[in-house]
Amino acid sequence: MKALLLENPHTDVDPYLVSAGLSVTRYPGALQGEDLIEALQGVTVLGVRSKTQVSADVIRRCPDLRCIGAFCIGTNQIDLAAASNRGIAVFNAPFSNTRSVVELAIAEIIALLRRLSERNRAMHAGRWEKTASGSHEVRGRTLGIVGYGNIGSQLSVLAEALGMHVVFYDKVEKLALGNARRAKSLDELLAVSDIVTLHVDGVSSNRSLFGAEEFAKMKPGAIFLNLSRGFVVDPTALRENIVEGRIAGAGVDVFPNEPNTNDEEFISELRGLPNVILTPHIGGSTVEAQHSIGQFVGTKIARYIMDGTTDLSVNLPRLILEPSQDTRYRLTYVHRNTPGVLALLNQALAEHGVNICGQILGTVAEIGYVITDIASEIPESVIEGITQLPDCIRLRIIDRQGITLDARAGRAF
Ligand code: NAI
Repeated sequence: MKALLLENPHTDVDPYLVSAGLSVTRYPGALQGEDLIEALQGVTVLGVRSKTQVSADVIRRCPDLRCIGAFCIGTNQIDLAAASNRGIAVFNAPFSNTRSVVELAIAEIIALLRRLSERNRAMHAGRWEKTASGSHEVRGRTLGIVGYGNIGSQLSVLAEALGMHVVFYDKVEKLALGNARRAKSLDELLAVSDIVTLHVDGVSSNRSLFGAEEFAKMKPGAIFLNLSRGFVVDPTALRENIVEGRIAGAGVDVFPNEPNTNDEEFISELRGLPNVILTPHIGGSTVEAQHSIGQFVGTKIARYIMDGTTDLSVNLPRLILEPSQDTRYRLTYVHRNTPGVLALLNQALAEHGVNICGQILGTVAEIGYVITDIASEIPESVIEGITQLPDCIRLRIIDRQGITLDARAGRAF
């Protein structure tokens, strides 16, 4: 079995894949279209980051592909529906760079409250601006966190350790960590926060979540941070509030229009503003995060290849089944989610005297996934029968050594 890794995921990944019986080939950049399709012939596992576009066409024309690892957070570059419909599992690293983002947010909060970027700029220009004016400790300040997910809740813990009061607003019910207090509304949070920081996800309904109206509801002299998604904030409104001095400073890591490469100029109306820290979408960009992403996704791929585990898969039902002592073969079966599939599968096995010693089923939208452990030999005719079932998408049989035999709907081995 072959794995093709594009866009340079961390080298920590390779040993995980090798341990699952894959031979690893790397290509430093992204591949697109026909080049990608050609490179994927005979490849079982594809690893990408954000640039390689894995379209429905690519998936359709690469029949050997069984698993895609996105060595990043987002999976917009992969046609997930097409992958599911071919029984291909997709994995990503949803929280491997959480800590990195949180640390940048903490750094920026302190830097903005101490006006470090201005002091630094003045020093490099030869000016000694020693003053306490406009500089504050973070201790005792109220941090308003909008979006209390992976990043927001981690930030809450670290901010409290620095002596900050935390208030958060999330559109869904969340457990308040430590002494953090849940605000009933965004308005309530804006009214009390000395620092407002956005950590909402990228759903389209969050477009322009934060504009002139929201800035107007913030406390005068408050600090604003956006390390989530560029389209969430109206940059014109932020600029106006900074220029008018209503907002004392801002840290912005994400922008509605970001350059595609380091060679392109960064164009934004936020350039040149006082006490505004601009960073090129590096919230999650640390060596530690890259290492952690490699480890996380590498492990998920290896488990999936070796025993069909889909824990934290982006697109397939998430199943974990520990094999029993009696397990001789494991059957992993991706199918269309229609009533009665499990009964048909088990009937086909029972008719041939095949003994099941463990089984688990999960469904997500139109896709179902069953892992079945078998305690006996599996006759060839059963396999053929199962792949001929009307809702079969993909069948895999894995032996105790983790060796896989693969079959797709309508085609036995
Ligand atoms: P998450 O999905 O764990 O948390 C997002 C939270 O926001 C959820 O609890 C959700 O209920 C809440 N939410 C969504 N819309 C909301 C709204 N309108 N009002 C209130 N709450 C709302 O996501 P995670 O991992 O914490 O990431 C947060 C953001 O950070 C994402 O947009 C992600 O893309 C971005 N990110 C940025 C990085 C960078 O380099 N700057 C790196 C990693 C993530």
